Amino acid sequence: MRIGIIGAGNIGSALARRFARVGYEVLLSNSRGPQTLTGLVQEIGGPVRAVTAAEAAASGEAVVVSIPYGRHRELPAEPLRGKVVVDTCNYYPERDGHDPDLDEDTTTSSEKIKAHTEANLVKAFNTLPAATLRDGGRPKGDPGRLAIPVSGSDEEAKAVVAGLIRDIGFDAVDAGTLSQGGRKHQPGTKVYAQALNAAELDALLRAE
Ligand SMILES: NC(=O)c1ccc[n+]([C@@H]2O[C@H](COP(=O)([O-])OP(=O)(O)OC[C@H]3O[C@@H](n4cnc5c(N)ncnc54)[C@H](OP(=O)(O)O)[C@@H]3O)[C@@H](O)[C@H]2O)c1
Repeated sequence: MRIGIIGAGNIGSALARRFARVGYEVLLSNSRGPQTLTGLVQEIGGPVRAVTAAEAAASGEAVVVSIPYGRHRELPAEPLRGKVVVDTCNYYPERDGHDPDLDEDTTTSSEKIKAHTEANLVKAFNTLPAATLRDGGRPKGDPGRLAIPVSGSDEEAKAVVAGLIRDIGFDAVDAGTLSQGGRKHQPGTKVYAQALNAAELDALLRAE
């Protein structure tokens, strides 16, 4: 599997590390260009390459988008159209600027990113702190294995993303559609920023 990652900050770099560790080919990008990622790529080692965001979008079989929500309109839409895209982004108005649609909850940040890119979007990796994603993976059956909520409207795309989650040492729990399910694991929900196992996460998502 070749994974494009757009955004090489806390989350993008943590995921690049984990994906490379399990042998995925990783194409890592940011907004300033591949030349600014040389040190990080060397430090991570393994099958990671620095590329432009457009190349990560075009060449990734699945693409992780992990940038501040407020910059989502800068994403290269054309190469992402129809592709499995994992959205880790959260809306923080103090960082992103106010989005009236999100302030009024008429839609969600993931649906807005989906509308911009027309990607086959799956929301995941948005609830756990970057350090937990980087260091918190555990083998299947380990009592300390944590779970990650996944929402999206395409079952096949969700299955692909659930596989990525399992491969780096977490369980995936289906939260539902992008709209209804996605709202259950946004900032401010009971599951947000909580270290939960699959049973605990599933129970809380059902109660939302
Ligand atoms: N930090 C966490 O623990 C955490 C947890 C869950 C979810 N999240 C969410 O995940 C997203 C990423 O968070 P983060 O903490 O990793 O952010 P971050 O450390 O600030 O990194 C953001 C990255 O996005 C890149 N970027 C910005 N605009 C871009 C564009 N138009 N094209 C390509 N790359 C672009 C930046 O590149 P440049 O530096 O070159 O501009 C940087 O590499 C956010 O939406 C955040 O709310 C964060």
